[in-house]
Amino acid sequence: MVGRGLWVCKTRCGKRGNKHGVMPVLCAAVATAALLALLFVDFIESWVTSTRMNAAVEPQLGGGVLPAQSVPPTRPEEFLLMPSPLVCQRAKPYLITMVISAPANQKARQSIRDTWGGVVEAKGLRVMTLFMVGVASDPGLSKLLIEEARERGDLIQGRFRDTYSNLTLKTRSMLGWARRFCPQAHFMAKVDDDVLFNPGALLHFLNKSRNPYEQGDLYLGRVHLNVAPDRDPDSKHYHPPRAYPASVYPDYCSGTAYVLSRSALLKISLAASALPLSTPLPPEDAFVGLCARAAGVLPSHCPYFSGGPGVPYGRCCYQAMVAVHHISPREMLHYWAESHSSQPCSWLSLRASLGVCKVRAMLDSALGLEQGL
Ligand SMILES: *[C@@H]1O[C@H](CO)[C@@H](O)[C@H](O)[C@H]1NC(C)=O
Ligand SMILES: *[C@@H]1O[C@H](CO)[C@@H](O)[C@H](O)[C@H]1NC(C)=O
Repeated sequence: MVGRGLWVCKTRCGKRGNKHGVMPVLCAAVATAALLALLFVDFIESWVTSTRMNAAVEPQLGGGVLPAQSVPPTRPEEFLLMPSPLVCQRAKPYLITMVISAPANQKARQSIRDTWGGVVEAKGLRVMTLFMVGVASDPGLSKLLIEEARERGDLIQGRFRDTYSNLTLKTRSMLGWARRFCPQAHFMAKVDDDVLFNPGALLHFLNKSRNPYEQGDLYLGRVHLNVAPDRDPDSKHYHPPRAYPASVYPDYCSGTAYVLSRSALLKISLAASALPLSTPLPPEDAFVGLCARAAGVLPSHCPYFSGGPGVPYGRCCYQAMVAVHHISPREMLHYWAESHSSQPCSWLSLRASLGVCKVRAMLDSALGLEQGL
């Protein structure tokens, strides 16, 4: 969009610039504005999103903050596999990343361990990555999971069948695990296993925003605004009016990747354990949004989360992005190696690369080349 504007401007200016004194000035102003918009596209996006946020939606399911005593504590028996219950006491992670994975996705898990999941310290802070799976229907796969858990010590397996429609149970189980076994972490990130996550960029963003997040509530990601429940019975996200009568969900963060501060995790996970579950279950990310709303936590938008659509690769762009969706295991290894083992980009190349890849991602979504979630 910006590029085309510049081009039109250039050709016009080239033709008439000399005759009318005002045109070159106007064109220079437009070109400068377009260039600035490209360089600061993330700030513009944050601002536009914040003005459209719907803080007025009423709590849908009760409201107020639940006292911790009203919800039974998470029990170790709820998990078939998990690392030592002392894993967080020992490692004291500042950030714990929980990767939602399916039993069969061994390749995705391995590519994460070999890239960002293998990072144990970022910006001088300790980080840790664990994987959350359900029960495989194939006994052979179940055996492989037990082996993988013994070898790597980073699997958590909840007691539910691992199917797409049970994704919301996986998230609820993950929230319960983190509340019970990792209260030390200041932040918890939930990330899908096809996301290139960048702990360093997240910690940089959190530090830079200078908000007292460490004490307060933070529910951060790509915010989806005014999403209507899917009423198509054939859709995998079907949520009928009898299960959810309201016409829109409260604003929520895209489920591909989001971050909760310690206090937000406590409140949201308590709400998740206490809320009655409808059949069919709400989509995973809308469910977290409903829990957040019930707990009185509002989402915050961060332009460095791709959300559903992917973001075209750019070395400097990928140094700045916190989470990029639609990354295959091979791309994960390749992109991580190229963008993170090289020199940090300069301020200007980072800004330019980010602007270009975000504008390209927006164009792709607008043209329907990418299927967003
Ligand atoms: C946070 O920012 C301050 C300066 O604003 C810097 O001194 C500090 O090292 C940063 N911490 C992290 C974890 O990036
Ligand atoms: C979800 O998991 C539960 C518990 O294992 C199981 O009974 C149920 O059939 C699963 N639902 C779907 C749709 O797979």
